[in-house]
Amino acid sequence: MTIPKKTLRPIALAAGLLMCACGGGTRNQATASNDVVLPAGVTQLTFPKGFLFGAASASYQCEGAWNKDGRGLTNWDYLTQTAGFANGETGNVADDFYDLYPEDVALMAKMGIKSFRFSIAWSRIYPTGFPIQLDPVTYQPVLDASGNPIPVAPNAAGIAHYNNLINLLLANGIEPLVTLYHWDMPIALFGMGGFANRNVVNLFAAYAQTVFMAFGDRVNYWLTLNEPYGECVDLDGVMTIALKSMAGGGSVSLSSLLAEFKMLSSDEMLGLQMTDLHNYLYTSSLATMIYHQLQAAGAVKAGGRIGPVLDLHVPKPASNAPADLAATQLVNAATNDMILKPLVQGVYPADVVSRLQAEGYTWTLPQTQIAEDLAMMKMAGADFIGVNYYSRSTVTSTHTDAMFPIFGGLGSGPFFNEGYSYNLTTTPESTNGIYDPQGFYDTLMYVHQTTGGLPILITENGCSYPGEDVLDTDGKVHDAMRTRFIEGHLKAAWKAQNDGANILGYTSWSLLDNFEWMFGYGRRFGLTYVDYTKPELTRTPKDSFAWYSNVIQNNGLPAN
Ligand code: BGC
Repeated sequence: MTIPKKTLRPIALAAGLLMCACGGGTRNQATASNDVVLPAGVTQLTFPKGFLFGAASASYQCEGAWNKDGRGLTNWDYLTQTAGFANGETGNVADDFYDLYPEDVALMAKMGIKSFRFSIAWSRIYPTGFPIQLDPVTYQPVLDASGNPIPVAPNAAGIAHYNNLINLLLANGIEPLVTLYHWDMPIALFGMGGFANRNVVNLFAAYAQTVFMAFGDRVNYWLTLNEPYGECVDLDGVMTIALKSMAGGGSVSLSSLLAEFKMLSSDEMLGLQMTDLHNYLYTSSLATMIYHQLQAAGAVKAGGRIGPVLDLHVPKPASNAPADLAATQLVNAATNDMILKPLVQGVYPADVVSRLQAEGYTWTLPQTQIAEDLAMMKMAGADFIGVNYYSRSTVTSTHTDAMFPIFGGLGSGPFFNEGYSYNLTTTPESTNGIYDPQGFYDTLMYVHQTTGGLPILITENGCSYPGEDVLDTDGKVHDAMRTRFIEGHLKAAWKAQNDGANILGYTSWSLLDNFEWMFGYGRRFGLTYVDYTKPELTRTPKDSFAWYSNVIQNNGLPAN
């Protein structure tokens, strides 16, 4: 694979879409200074009673069974099977979690986790994506004689599958953390432009309602949509280019994609990103509002809670020079505040908006609509904030070729001068950025402060070190760096809650190695190794699995 010089993504690109291809040895480059400093005299870090120690997954990444039980085609089927996005690898089989979940729940019980995050595949509930009848030309709902939309029955096999999974988790004392959308979308809706199209937003709302009604009597924690920044600023931009390129008969190799992506004008890029991001956040709030309305009507569990899953990380200035500090503040606003503030306070950050407007940028949606949406978003609120964190970025006031401008143009645009370097490119041994638990602490405290103390659920935190994620001759996986990664980040989480943040739980990404988007099976984030060379996809708990299990048993870990 070509190694792009720049990465397109700050945050988790995690989406894994366009990060550099790092790899190699096991040398640990992290500096001790990135660890949090714990209060003197504390020897044991104990978490509150009921703290949700968990592990995570996502439908397309682990389920497989891509054409089973009436599942419809999705964007990722298309991107992998047709467009060759992941070097020819697909999620067709993945971990076959769809069939092997009883075995995997037994594994979870063995680990002792208190919660398990998974996502529902929209295409298993509504295979075509349409939960209501739509006019095939206008995509407007077909209404019955009383003016109501006409529902389409959800796929019974899909509903049954998630019922079984939820029931088995509960029977094992494991709290399901259910994500409504983790990037796999019915293909027709992808073709309509995904969340950039308001009709897709409405279709999602109907899907969400069905899911709440089906499982809401048992599920206590709902997560709306995964990672706004990753989806809207990176993923959808890339997909748009891919679609354009394919429609024109072009190729979609990673390098040609990058080249085309970089050729988008700032206007095109920003228009796409701003509208998409706005609609994505709005969709999250819409689902939240629907859930709360169902709750008020007694249709779902009274104590159930719902929140978004946000890819946040507080950036660090490259130096203490005033210009770097100012650039860092702006980057923080353009990445974190641009997501958090509309969701929680119903406003976009003024410094970012004025910067955009000064340069003539605005949403492609009418301002009246934005204002109405923001008012609804403020009203809908969130019961907690889900935080995904992998690494953080550094910022300078000067863009250099090795860095990447955020949000908007590539090579020009409103933030071009703010060099934004996600640390993904800087560590040879890890594929997920630099080890920075202090950045995690800073991020948790930032969320705590910005949201007026809303509870926080850590919905993802994890790492992939290719050098150590291998089956050793003793049949085990000695992933000491993952253990140390989790340890450092748990200490940061403990410190944040000790300093006042209300942290509901910590969810390790991920329970199993799985399909890592653009990078296929080459990047392993699991606490459990999956042997893809074996037809039975053998699971082998890694050393970190046992270590984490011990932490859960003790509801904490030693300070040193
Ligand atoms: C995504 C996951 C992904 C992980 C690791 C997160 O941003 O939500 O789907 O596997 O990062 O890259």
